[in-house]
Amino acid sequence: MTKTRVVVIGMGYVGIPMAALLANVPDFYVTGIQRMSKRSGWKIDCLNSGKSPFEGEEPGLDELIERVVKNGKFNVTNKYDIIKEADYILIDVQTPVDDHKIPRYESLIDVSNKISRYLKKEVTIIIESTVAPGTTNNIVAPILEKGSGLKRGKDFFLVFSFERVMPGKLIEYITDFPRVIGGGCSEANEKAKFLYGKVVKKELQITDTLTAELTKCIENTYRDVNIAFANEMALVAESYNRNIFEIIELINHRHDRLMHMPGSGVGGHCLTKDPWLLMYGLETYTPHYYTPKILPESRRLNDYMPEHIVELMESALEEADKHDNLKIALFGVSYKANTDDTRNSPSEKIVSILKERYHSHNIEYIAHDPYVKKKDYHETDLTQNIDKALTGADVLIFATNHRDYYELDLNHIKIKVRTPILIDGRNIFNRNSLEKLGFYYRKVGEGNRAS
Ligand SMILES: NC(=O)c1ccc[n+]([C@@H]2O[C@H](COP(=O)([O-])OP(=O)(O)OC[C@H]3O[C@@H](n4cnc5c(N)ncnc54)[C@H](O)[C@@H]3O)[C@@H](O)[C@H]2O)c1
Repeated sequence: MTKTRVVVIGMGYVGIPMAALLANVPDFYVTGIQRMSKRSGWKIDCLNSGKSPFEGEEPGLDELIERVVKNGKFNVTNKYDIIKEADYILIDVQTPVDDHKIPRYESLIDVSNKISRYLKKEVTIIIESTVAPGTTNNIVAPILEKGSGLKRGKDFFLVFSFERVMPGKLIEYITDFPRVIGGGCSEANEKAKFLYGKVVKKELQITDTLTAELTKCIENTYRDVNIAFANEMALVAESYNRNIFEIIELINHRHDRLMHMPGSGVGGHCLTKDPWLLMYGLETYTPHYYTPKILPESRRLNDYMPEHIVELMESALEEADKHDNLKIALFGVSYKANTDDTRNSPSEKIVSILKERYHSHNIEYIAHDPYVKKKDYHETDLTQNIDKALTGADVLIFATNHRDYYELDLNHIKIKVRTPILIDGRNIFNRNSLEKLGFYYRKVGEGNRAS
């Protein structure tokens, strides 16, 4: 059998599991390219020693990486000349937006330029990063053609096929979700089908490149808007002094309804930017376009939720008549339960709002997270020792629903803290149990006298 050589560029939440899964395919040999940045360069040695760089729970990933590295099927480098030997090149770099919601394509453009230098005929390039609709055809294809002197669809193939992973489910979501493939021509689609057919167990769905890009942006925007609706209804329920979680349960008991859950905010690399990518593509590549109304409002509402946590804290402090010399302890600095991903996490925003609003107050901050390492979090002191965070605290803010938090002993918490104020951003606790112990309790989505 002939060998298939794959290069995966960008060793992050998307690139690593895909590279490891492909390296596990017989006769597939995978090289990851990771730049030597301050933040991520260390991942090269980590992966080459057979270890996963993620601290959160990723079922199946540790064993897979260990196996493919040991078998000589997977290695990582910061050198690009390996591209000369590739049959497939996957692009998995980050695609954030700036403060004006404009895509920051430095990485995507840099990688496209570097690929074009080494590109040879018959190679298939697949963009897995999420991009604004129109980017594959209007930005990446021209760079590749100009730099290589080759023609897309004739000499090389360019496909957009987005990733659906989520930290905590990296392997499962690659293998067990259908895959959308948006190649520019049937040959490109066949090449991509050959590759993904080796690791994806569900359907491979073929469409055009722009439709594939739109599908990704709209799929994530759908979720962001649904969470915004849940967050808005949480605020409505609070105003009525009722409990949104009880209401959602009553609604979802009807089998054809699936209302999302509200919380302390939306974080991560994807939902916080994909609606902006969708709108950017519209404005940039479409002459007569509709201006979305609910999308920007949904983004703003989801971004407001960390501020609401601060408002709940202020109301509890008022009730407890506690105003200065505070120790505020934050629980959960990753944006998602049981993972180590801190990108755009609600707790990061909560801390920055608090520091700005109360910069002249005497406040000590501490954060706790079972998964996040100190090097990935710089907003406050960080501990993995729960008692260190609890001891002498005046305010406890739970921003992420890590599994450990459901098992906390409330009596123990009460003994450790100085002032029993607890702000629940993720529906972790029960009001009655806490109030019986004398806590000042506030929960996103539940009015103060709801029970
Ligand atoms: N994280 C998710 O759950 C998820 C899910 C679906 C889609 N996506 C999309 O996939 C893309 C990647 O996301 P991610 O979460 O894996 O990002 P990430 O930040 O975890 O990983 C990107 C990696 O690419 C590296 N990189 C950047 N520029 C490089 C270059 N020029 N050469 C080599 N390496 C370079 C970075 O250092 C980093 O290690 C984004 O477009 C994202 O929107 C992410």
